[in-house]
Amino acid sequence: MSEFLKRVDPEIAAVVAAELGRQRDQLEMIASENFTSRAVMEAVGSVLTNKYAEGYPGKRYYGGCVHVDDAETLAKRRACELFDAERANVQPHSGSTANMTAYLAFAKPGDKILGLSLSHGGHLTHGHPVNFSGLMFEAHHYEVEQGSETIDYDKLRDKAREVKPRLLIGGASAYPRTWDYEAMRSIADEVGAVFIFDMAHIAGLVAGKVHPSPVPHADVVTSTTHKTLRGPRGGLVLCRQEHLKAVNKMNFPGIQGGPLMHAIAAKAVCFLECLQPEFADYAQKVLDNAQALAAALLAKGFRLVSGGTDNHLLLVNCKPRGLTGKDMEELLERVGITCNKNTVPFDEESPFVTSGVRLGTPALTTRGMGAVEMEQIAEIMDRAVAAKDDEAALDTLAAEAQELGRAFPLYPDD
Ligand SMILES: Cc1ncc(COP(=O)(O)O)c(C=O)c1O
Repeated sequence: MSEFLKRVDPEIAAVVAAELGRQRDQLEMIASENFTSRAVMEAVGSVLTNKYAEGYPGKRYYGGCVHVDDAETLAKRRACELFDAERANVQPHSGSTANMTAYLAFAKPGDKILGLSLSHGGHLTHGHPVNFSGLMFEAHHYEVEQGSETIDYDKLRDKAREVKPRLLIGGASAYPRTWDYEAMRSIADEVGAVFIFDMAHIAGLVAGKVHPSPVPHADVVTSTTHKTLRGPRGGLVLCRQEHLKAVNKMNFPGIQGGPLMHAIAAKAVCFLECLQPEFADYAQKVLDNAQALAAALLAKGFRLVSGGTDNHLLLVNCKPRGLTGKDMEELLERVGITCNKNTVPFDEESPFVTSGVRLGTPALTTRGMGAVEMEQIAEIMDRAVAAKDDEAALDTLAAEAQELGRAFPLYPDD
């Protein structure tokens, strides 16, 4: 770690060192997290953070933008190449501002929007009442079906016919299944809605071409760059040429001020990394590991929402094992596995308790783990549940998890 930081601010340097230790020692299974590369971190920590660059390359409100223009142009070009998109806006500070940009580019406050409900796997920004999306728009939601725990697109069509939304929003934070983009496109066309797909969770799988892409089907695609895509924290909007003006105008000056040029340069690095053949291998391994974990958990009697997964995440319903999601999150943390409690469809527990946990394979796959390690993790989880009140047994499991993590070093030179 940098000696400068230690000298200038030992307290924050200690926080950074402690967090590195935590990331190293625990098995990171939060589905939305990953370990970005040193090259990405170097760009994030670069002098580009010093530059104001309101506007877009070649049309800035500040002088001295020649070099940051190059960074942004590269980021846009690479994003388009990576996702086979016509145009990209790489300025959104986050996935949330990417969504805000897309919504307000096509809808006015008070318009109707239709997205997957948060408690069925959707995201806060898909119309939840506490979020800007629910506060500014008349939000309606579709849900998954009770038995299959998947989306029934005929029912979604009925709902869209009834609501007649201005925006039809696809994408999720906790939906383990592939989306039917064609069905959503046809529903949007039938009811005259703009089809926005938020691929934040699956973007890395799409980039690695191991998961179908929403880009040919949706009017606008939004994303984060820090989940499966493994880049810096940030957002992205992809669209066709005809929509670029509206999207750009809404992101700046509509929503944001000066872009984070250090983050944009880091996005360019991330996209370059994703364009390499090794990234496709990584994306395939993320999927293989999710399959291996699902199979091992099912074999041990865990219940998975929708019975399995098509992507990088699984939702475990903990109730059949006698635990709430909160209990399970705490139990797994006790043995060194980090995940998050998550509502399951038709959950009877509150969002602070929940009945499930969400597990993802992107971060551990970056560390180099494979199917054997996924089976070991399922085994640790199973034994932890069986020994939940036995501190000595939990200590043993924590030691096993730590040993497993140490065999796959994270940032070995630090
Ligand atoms: C589907 C989806 N969209 C948007 C976001 C928001 O991204 P951010 O946290 O960068 O605002 C998330 C974050 O979890 C997400 O899962």
